[in-house]
Amino acid sequence: MANVFEEVVKEYHLFKNRDALSPHYIPPELPFREEEIRLLSQKLAPILSGKKPENIFIYGKTGTGKTAVTKKVLSDLNEYAKKKNIPVLGLYVNGRLHDSEHKVLLKLVRLLDPTQDLLGYSTSAVYDRFLEFLESGGIRVVIAIDEIDMVKRASDLIYRLNRSNDELSRSSVSLIGISNNPTFKDRLDARTRSTLCEVELVFKPYNAEQLRVILEERAKEAFKEGAVSDDAISLAAALAAKHSGDARYALLLLLRAGDIAEEEGAERVERKHVEEARRLVEEDIVYEMIATLPEQHRLVLLALSTLRLKGKGVSSFSGENVITSGLLYSYYTKIAEEYGVSPVSDRWFREYLNELDTYGIISVKVAGKGFRGNTRIVELNVDPRRLLQVVKKTL
Ligand SMILES: Nc1ncnc2c1ncn2[C@@H]1O[C@H](COP(=O)(O)OP(=O)(O)OP(=O)(O)O)[C@@H](O)[C@H]1O
Ligand SMILES: [Mg+2]
Repeated sequence: MANVFEEVVKEYHLFKNRDALSPHYIPPELPFREEEIRLLSQKLAPILSGKKPENIFIYGKTGTGKTAVTKKVLSDLNEYAKKKNIPVLGLYVNGRLHDSEHKVLLKLVRLLDPTQDLLGYSTSAVYDRFLEFLESGGIRVVIAIDEIDMVKRASDLIYRLNRSNDELSRSSVSLIGISNNPTFKDRLDARTRSTLCEVELVFKPYNAEQLRVILEERAKEAFKEGAVSDDAISLAAALAAKHSGDARYALLLLLRAGDIAEEEGAERVERKHVEEARRLVEEDIVYEMIATLPEQHRLVLLALSTLRLKGKGVSSFSGENVITSGLLYSYYTKIAEEYGVSPVSDRWFREYLNELDTYGIISVKVAGKGFRGNTRIVELNVDPRRLLQVVKKTL
């Protein structure tokens, strides 16, 4: 029998380091973000001489390098402070993973002291521990809260963290809030807004030429020499430029194109591989969006995909098997209860259907002939099997 690892450990003929295209890879250089990096580090620099930097709000569309730039600057800050023995720390928290005031505070304490386990403590107890820790070490911190719009009642968190400066004498807390949500800032009350947005940094979308350079750099890391055609890179860059200048989309296109070319045993990644990849990536994006929808929306989708897969429905005038909103509502109620969630009223349910329709995941239509006046039917626009998988994983 052949060595089993020969089979399992995949040999690539085009990729040299496939991970260099993954969304988690932090490239050593961030072309076209030199100015943003300089501004951010200038704004933070006072912390190194004992002053409290102003709070900063970073806004920009998705894939414009906000996370990459912030992580790079915080890691350089930490490295510098350590080398010079200055009690300064940059802390990074992602609001998507830690989506409440309580969870963010827990994460902060754990970043400061990984041995602390404050599970089950009240929010104010966790907060007190956080302050104690800073004050006892005289530590000045910059806290970056990425995707801050995902944190429930973010205002309370911002207010509390900023107010901590009144209680600290030897240490200080500065904030960086990061968001790609254009309405986030306006949703904050006036006082919180002026607290967080003392300094504002806006990241502009990349244009096609910038994306081409970014991709070229990453491709050098990721692929063997000559394994990607210039055409393929230009196309991926052009598509991503149309896709609101999103570098993540560009990288994902190239990654998927590389996978397709590998699978085919092609000699190089060509335009056609990027074109094929485009379809896959669009799909990935839809399912990723579904995974981050609010819980009630996901429960509605769980009910719909289950009904679809079970072939349940009502026969329409033309003999088609359709799912009416009434049928879906009663099934959704049942599923919500199974998951220990109180189902929303019929009125809210209709509102959710409209939202899911706007996102393009479902289509809601008037049932017409053979049905009562305002009966609506709900169609699913994505693969029910994959939808079920994605939603189940998140519930
Ligand atoms: N200037 C750049 N050079 C090289 N890679 C980049 C550059 N800007 C962004 N990237 C890469 O593109 C991807 C997306 O960037 P990043 O995660 O920083 O975007 P973002 O602005 O935080 O987006 P979102 O709002 O969706 O969180 C990452 O893989 C990142 O490494
Ligand atoms: Mg980000």
